[in-house]
Amino acid sequence: MENWTEKYRPTSLDEIAGNRKALQQLRQWAEQWDRGTPDRRAVILSGTPGVGKTSAAHALARDFGWEVIELNASDTRSGDIIRRIALSGAVNETFTGSGEYVSSRTGGHKLIVLDEADNLYETSGDRGGKRAIVDTISATRQPIVLIVNDYYELVKGGGAPLRTLCRHIQFWEVRSELRSVLQQICESEGVRVHQDVIRHIASQAEGDVRGAINDLQTVCQGRREVGPEAVQSLGYRNREKKIFDGIREILKARDMQTANKVARAIDEPPDFLILWLDENLPVEYQKPADLARAYRFLAAADVFLGRTRRRQHYGLWRYACDLMFGGVAVAKTRAYAGSPRYHFPSYLRKMSDSKSARATRRNLAAKIGRHLHMSGMKATDLLPPLQRLMSADSALAARLVAQTGIAEDELAVILDKPRAQKIMALAQNGPAHGQQPAQQSLFDYR
Ligand SMILES: Nc1ncnc2c1ncn2[C@@H]1O[C@H](COP(=O)(O)OP(=O)(O)O)[C@@H](O)[C@H]1O
Ligand SMILES: [Mg+2]
Repeated sequence: MENWTEKYRPTSLDEIAGNRKALQQLRQWAEQWDRGTPDRRAVILSGTPGVGKTSAAHALARDFGWEVIELNASDTRSGDIIRRIALSGAVNETFTGSGEYVSSRTGGHKLIVLDEADNLYETSGDRGGKRAIVDTISATRQPIVLIVNDYYELVKGGGAPLRTLCRHIQFWEVRSELRSVLQQICESEGVRVHQDVIRHIASQAEGDVRGAINDLQTVCQGRREVGPEAVQSLGYRNREKKIFDGIREILKARDMQTANKVARAIDEPPDFLILWLDENLPVEYQKPADLARAYRFLAAADVFLGRTRRRQHYGLWRYACDLMFGGVAVAKTRAYAGSPRYHFPSYLRKMSDSKSARATRRNLAAKIGRHLHMSGMKATDLLPPLQRLMSADSALAARLVAQTGIAEDELAVILDKPRAQKIMALAQNGPAHGQQPAQQSLFDYR
């Protein structure tokens, strides 16, 4: 199904919820450009994820009839590339060719959008990345929008000139308008969603519109009506999101303290979190040597987790944690750019998919165990020989079924379905008339 956050991405500034003041400032700045008198060549949009920064930049261009040149810092690896693309777009492609500002009458501007600029200087180093941005803005003849999560990270160090070169426009969390955004989407989709659910999603979102819309889409998936009970499934989703976010932070961390702190905040047992790290390490770490080092830490952590379990000595968890969070974090030689899509641990998924199959198998073993005076666990070891025995001798199999009360689906764990059905029928009808059982119990088997 189409992603609702994309389907309902605002295309005009008027459609963006909240942040009136920021949108007003953005409009004023664009009007200055159209008049040919911008007091700043660039603006910095800052704010937490999912509040409409990217949408606002593109909506602005659309409202003013400007073309967009988009540079995504997470796709490009170095300041050089940014500089090359940005400068050619910014300087060379002015319509007058003389370095004059191009007014909308003569052709309109090109809006250069440098999204996720934080990624640029985090990966290419503060100096290279920020220098490229400063140079580009100093030389541009076209309006530039920089988008970052944290304004102060951008303007510190080598970014200091940006304080005066750019106008800072702050985006805030979208709170009071969030419910009506969700409500409108429900109406467009023709889904009736209980008010408790909308309220719950809105309050959990902490101002993140994207997150809220994603939650809404999840609870609405394939339904016309969503009742108040959906609030519970959202609780689980929130827990999962917290783990995903935390694992990402750990894998991005550059020092042990940060990684350990994040791990503590996730507040889930380490023997559970290790599965998430195991699954997502190869997604994040691209250099084989980094990956190998990280897995060595994970393996060592696993040894401590095993000892903790066996000895029931939870003090050992500390060592496991230092190795699997701190160790894994510092195992990499560099930070990796971008935010690749993480996976839910496949081990947990398999376990949950096979839950009913495993339960049936356990029941079967328990019944056999009871009959043979042993634990269900021990009886599990007997399943393979029993399987051979029972496929070779239907009469024996039928007696065993009758004596132990094995059900058909349990029998189907070790025998194919037609045979299991046949044996069930035999067991129900009892031994054929006049025929003495050759054997009283399994132990008598010759
Ligand atoms: N203020 C908002 N009003 C309406 N929808 C929003 C708003 N902010 C975010 N969204 C929704 O979330 C999606 C992602 O928003 P985006 O502009 O990319 O956020 P940001 O760049 O701040 O992380 C949009 O496509 C839209 O569906
Ligand atoms: Mg964005």
